[in-house]
Amino acid sequence: MSELNLTTAPAHVRHGSNIGQPLTRRDGVLKVKGQATYAADNHPPGMLFAVIAASSIARGRVTSLDVAAAKRHPGVVEVMTSSNKPPLAIDPEIKTNPFVFRMESLQNDEVRYANQPIAVVIAHSLEAATEGAALLAPRYEALPPRVGLDAGEVFVPPAVGVGNPTVNEHGDVEAGLASAAKRIDATYETPPQYHNAMEPHAIVVAWDGDRLSIDMPTQGLVLSRARIAELFGLPHENIHIRSPFLGGGFGSKGLMGGPPVLGIMAAKLVGKPVKLVLRREQMYGPVGHRAPTRQRLRLGADGEGQLTAIEHHARTVSSTYDDFYEPAADASHTLYASPAIRTTHDAVRVDTGTPLFMRAPGEATGSLALESAIDEVAWACGMDPLAFRLKNYAEVEPITGRPFSSKALRACYEQGATRFGWAKRKLAPREMRDQDGHLVGWGMGTATFPALMFQAEARAAIRRDGSGIMEIGAHDMGQGAWTAFAQIAADGLGLDIDSVEFRSGHSGLPDAGIAGGSAHTATAGAAIHNAGAAVIARLADLATKDERSPLFGAGNAGVIARDGKLFRRDDESRGESYADILSRAGLAEVEARGTGAPNPTAQADYAMHAHGAVFAEVKVDPELGQVRVTRMVGAFAAGRIVNPQLVKSQLFGGMIWGVSFALHEEAITDRRTGRIMNANLGEYHIPVNADVPSLDVLTVEEHDPHVNALGIKGVGEIGITGSAGAVANAVWHATGVRVRRFPIRIEELL
Ligand code: MOS
Repeated sequence: MSELNLTTAPAHVRHGSNIGQPLTRRDGVLKVKGQATYAADNHPPGMLFAVIAASSIARGRVTSLDVAAAKRHPGVVEVMTSSNKPPLAIDPEIKTNPFVFRMESLQNDEVRYANQPIAVVIAHSLEAATEGAALLAPRYEALPPRVGLDAGEVFVPPAVGVGNPTVNEHGDVEAGLASAAKRIDATYETPPQYHNAMEPHAIVVAWDGDRLSIDMPTQGLVLSRARIAELFGLPHENIHIRSPFLGGGFGSKGLMGGPPVLGIMAAKLVGKPVKLVLRREQMYGPVGHRAPTRQRLRLGADGEGQLTAIEHHARTVSSTYDDFYEPAADASHTLYASPAIRTTHDAVRVDTGTPLFMRAPGEATGSLALESAIDEVAWACGMDPLAFRLKNYAEVEPITGRPFSSKALRACYEQGATRFGWAKRKLAPREMRDQDGHLVGWGMGTATFPALMFQAEARAAIRRDGSGIMEIGAHDMGQGAWTAFAQIAADGLGLDIDSVEFRSGHSGLPDAGIAGGSAHTATAGAAIHNAGAAVIARLADLATKDERSPLFGAGNAGVIARDGKLFRRDDESRGESYADILSRAGLAEVEARGTGAPNPTAQADYAMHAHGAVFAEVKVDPELGQVRVTRMVGAFAAGRIVNPQLVKSQLFGGMIWGVSFALHEEAITDRRTGRIMNANLGEYHIPVNADVPSLDVLTVEEHDPHVNALGIKGVGEIGITGSAGAVANAVWHATGVRVRRFPIRIEELL
């Protein structure tokens, strides 16, 4: 057993038996039985149903709404439009901080994208509200929509949130390209994609005077509360949000969009609790998406296959009213050693809802292009793609020269390649076939995602009976937060997991930060760990200063917490239970708080990233062009693995989204109307079980002393990176056709 070295609290907690265990998710039974409550499952007494009427044009203004017709419907209670909406305390267009999403709240009659909310109908039933919304029969003054990557004004967007600057450069790219023996200059395109969480965005909201009670899925409880507080001019403590479970988020429930605000306004207007749930097609607009990209990569390599330059330019889109963009070129900062790297971005303003974070924003799109380009240059050099990647292995972060806090990518390459059987790959394309005559292709991609840390706080307590409490407003999107955090809590408190009451999922608890950026386990986990250590330190203080305790005189530094007892480090036969310590001290409980936060010194000194290597096999029907992914192996190094079973599921999920990116997903916009033509799960393709190959995930051991107290790097998003490129490269290897526009279509392989 390893021991954790705590820097924030004097007591030493032995790394217990919970972290690292493949526990089944603790909420699984509730979910299978339908007993896990999602936001829309709530029905406060007297609740009415609100339905959004959404714009069918993408640009222009609403000239009329037949409010009278809707109101004549016997079930309809009220119609909320820009003329009768309750006022907000601040303009929702003002960006009060970098993580605010500008939104529609029926401010005026302007339409800025298709599916924009233009009215809300409130009724006694969902059916009546839906019929009422249809009766509004809106008329518009429509302008031609601007659609696509060449449609409008080009601008250089500001950094996303607090992310990298939009332009980054090191070394002399032109000189590197000029000196290269082999060069490629290739342009890749990726389509708009929508998050499509299973659970639609929903809110059930009740006003009580100037207090708000809200059920709403959110990836950021406290962030959402702050946004609602500023929009409605309420003190934070007047707002209570419950979000115990999310049916997926993928980034779309991170920054709050307009629909929940409309729900709160509707409840205020009618003076009754209201439920507002987006229909599937209404999720294609007001709640974010992944912007399309066009990425040009210019790569040079010398006669030995050593990269001399990487230039990565990404064009993307943003909305006409906000600046979020897809930071695709950032993927080229980290992976491959090169004396010269330049990454640049620009964007075009189009008539779309604002894009947003989605499943590895930047890295997913960027690494698909980069991994394709690396494959192309390796082939130009006549080298095996893995040998080329190893030749250009980055020992330090290429764009900054900083050492990595840890990087077990070489082991990922080795273990993944061995498991896959990569050594048997033929170098040239179209040289492998199966017994049915299908073309077989093997491709690979490198996975990478930054190891981020946000801010979080947790509260821990030990009760008189020796049991523990851990409180943190964390978010379980299906990734298993309730389970992983309980494991960290149990070890932090030196207790068996069943002796810890883990309280989570509402805004009345300490702020867990945002469940995004693959940083939730690291950030909230650090807070939980530190809160546990702090409460143990208090217990240790009580015991070691009390002559009646067998721990008397041991000093804080000499105490170990395990199985609900403290032991002397110098003599583990001498210990005392938490219950005895508290009982003698006459205390009902001891409590303490702990925080998780980035360590600015470590962040300045080290580059922090998770890594992985993904290998894919595809089979292509030579007559029909049909592609099947038949086998994938992913080997990932992401620091400490809190729960191998949950981590495996996360990585499986990411790899499946990688297959989806390469072969399935695309939102198709009608250029004449600016409307999305496949705004439903029937026609917006994602892989179904039959499309999902045999998947094999390995986690590679990696100890990182710098990222955070527990050495966790996060696994939420890395699975998609590398995987899309591996599939695309396998398709090339099978067919000899390099498709640079995604998703790969059958017609391009014929
Ligand atoms: Mo994620 S796209 O950081 O929720």
